[in-house]
Amino acid sequence: MSQRKGGSNSGNGNGAAPPDPAKASRARDKLLSAKPVTTIAERRNDNTARSGGDGSVGKDRTPLLNDETHPSVFGFEWHEDGLWRIPADANKTAFRVCSLFEVLALSRPETNDDWGILIRLRDRDKNEHEWIIPLRLLVAEAVEVRAKLAACGLRIGANEGAQRALREYLAAIDEGMPARVRTVPRTGWYRPTAGAPVFVLPGRTIGASAGEVVRLDLDQAPAIYRARGTLEEWKEELARRCIGNTRLVFAVSAAFAGPIIGLTQDQGGGFNFRGETSRGKTSCIDAAASVWGSPSETGPDSFTRNWRSTDNAMESTAMAHNDCILPLDELGQADPATLPETLYMLANGTGKARARASGGNRAGISWRTVVLSTSEDSAARMVEQVNRRMKGGQEVRLIDFGAEVPGRHGVFENLHDAANGGAFWHEVRNAVVSHYGTAGPAFAQWLVETIETSPDFVAQKVAPKVRDWLQSYVKAGSDGQVQRAARRFALMAVAGELATEANITGWPQGEAARAAATVFRTWTDERGGIGSRDDHHLFEAFRAFFVEHGQARFEKVLEAATPEAEAEGMDRERMMMRRVGWRWRQPLNEQEKQVLSEGAAEAAAIAKERGDTNGPKDIGPGLYRWAYALHPHAFQAEVAGPLGIDKRDALRRLGMAGLIEGRKESGEQRWEIKKRRIPGAGYPRVIVPTLQALNER
Ligand SMILES: Nc1ncnc2c1ncn2[C@@H]1O[C@H](COP(=O)(O)OP(=O)(O)O)[C@@H](O)[C@H]1O
Ligand SMILES: [Mg+2]
Repeated sequence: MSQRKGGSNSGNGNGAAPPDPAKASRARDKLLSAKPVTTIAERRNDNTARSGGDGSVGKDRTPLLNDETHPSVFGFEWHEDGLWRIPADANKTAFRVCSLFEVLALSRPETNDDWGILIRLRDRDKNEHEWIIPLRLLVAEAVEVRAKLAACGLRIGANEGAQRALREYLAAIDEGMPARVRTVPRTGWYRPTAGAPVFVLPGRTIGASAGEVVRLDLDQAPAIYRARGTLEEWKEELARRCIGNTRLVFAVSAAFAGPIIGLTQDQGGGFNFRGETSRGKTSCIDAAASVWGSPSETGPDSFTRNWRSTDNAMESTAMAHNDCILPLDELGQADPATLPETLYMLANGTGKARARASGGNRAGISWRTVVLSTSEDSAARMVEQVNRRMKGGQEVRLIDFGAEVPGRHGVFENLHDAANGGAFWHEVRNAVVSHYGTAGPAFAQWLVETIETSPDFVAQKVAPKVRDWLQSYVKAGSDGQVQRAARRFALMAVAGELATEANITGWPQGEAARAAATVFRTWTDERGGIGSRDDHHLFEAFRAFFVEHGQARFEKVLEAATPEAEAEGMDRERMMMRRVGWRWRQPLNEQEKQVLSEGAAEAAAIAKERGDTNGPKDIGPGLYRWAYALHPHAFQAEVAGPLGIDKRDALRRLGMAGLIEGRKESGEQRWEIKKRRIPGAGYPRVIVPTLQALNER
């Protein structure tokens, strides 16, 4: 039988003619409905099986297939057992090329420069596989294409003829193929030129765009977005157990925040659940992972990644988690030397134009994710150990907080009738390995539908909720860094609340907002308040300097009646290495007495609570303290310099915080002051710490 390309079957006389619109729309419906592949039995009813007519189809051949997903190509026939090669020369025998697959559409990215063929097939166990065969792989031997198809379960004839024929068929398909899909290189939101935004997941696009059918074209992603169990089961087994557990609620809220920051266009970033081992940190980020996929411990199919597996494939990992979360276990395995940059890249990245192994370029690779990591040390500490320092901005990129709830059960507060922390951990673990991958897509579906009816969703719904949360939980006058971090917390809170509103979590209203507030408070408490982080480093370093060197490197000045006696009294016998200033005993002033007696009272109260009768009582009258004068050179060389802070700026910040004494000199505020006469040194300008700086909070 000789059948012309695009012959009677295709209803499309020749390749140059415009595609049949009715057929294109049928094909499109088929793609959107995401209906499972029709079975052979079903198809038998659909198709009038034709006999070969000219006798080239033997009696042993199964009936002919004739539908849009099996485009006809000159020299080939689709039968129920697969694709057949029908040689033009009637004397040559026909042979089977491969088992069945469906051709759904031709695909191309927004740049239109990487066309492909979207196919779907069922393996021997009836698992469905979709793949976009890049046309660029068909120009040469196409070994890669056959290998991948075989790996997905396509049976391809072992002889060279069959293999060559498969490539010929694929290369010739396009002329009878009217259906089109748009490929995108990352998961998450895609805004088609017409219609509402859609949310793209592997093998599945949520929302029917008016204009085009959209498919993810990303090798890495498909396996990680898997589902098991129903949403109701996930709610009952996992989400319910989160209630009253701020860390779990916060992590799961964050899992819903991926699509939200994609809408608000906020920067990516993340949270590090820090704490000692075996406290349940990993279970928190696994709970978050279960919103989107399987949190199984290892392997390429796990939604929870670890740092090692991320190293090599950072870009494609990030693209597979775009507008979503990226749970990363064990930050400690990351290379601390490059950690700040890696974190920055992962959360909010733009890849370099990347050459594909098989040719072609992918420019404009970018992504945005919420990273959730776990570790025993903060990222900042890890980085310090290799003598680097996280900049304030980077620290806020990965917000680090103590995951453990003091006085409770590791990371858990509410055990929901479990006997102990370990038992509850097992319940959570069982929940996340048996029920996953349903809540995230359901939330995306809700978002897509909500935006379809109210396109101003972000302005009307998200923004006011973020504002409300910030007003409720963030103190006025917070440092800029704190405010940026607070917004991140607010987005997690709002995402969790929206998921509750969408009927996905089953949590009481306000649960997610309160959990985010608790974690936010943990974070601000740990960082030492809501002031600037750079200030915090400086203040710590300044305080630590006196703790460390107060005794050894400040020369003692002994008060005496005359200058000569005083000079005599200096601690000259003692060898002073690398002197940085002077110290002397100084009576406490009234304000200092007040400060100290408050501290003593507090300490006494704590001691009493403990039943410790030998504890501090009060400071007693007329006490002295050590006063210090630090030489400005030493301050520059050993405090400000190593922090990379300008000396004048550092002094101003210390002064404004009340940690050093200042004087007004001819209307100008000075922080290097002439405090006192130093025997043998005259009246040097020095830096004088206040009691507040010397007294640890
Ligand atoms: N809150 C807890 N109380 C008691 N044991 C726990 C708790 N959390 C975790 N564990 C134990 O620690 C092990 C590790 O759990 P994981 O979630 O990985 O904690 P982490 O990440 O903090 O090390 C588990 O096998 C579990 O038995
Ligand atoms: Mg762990």
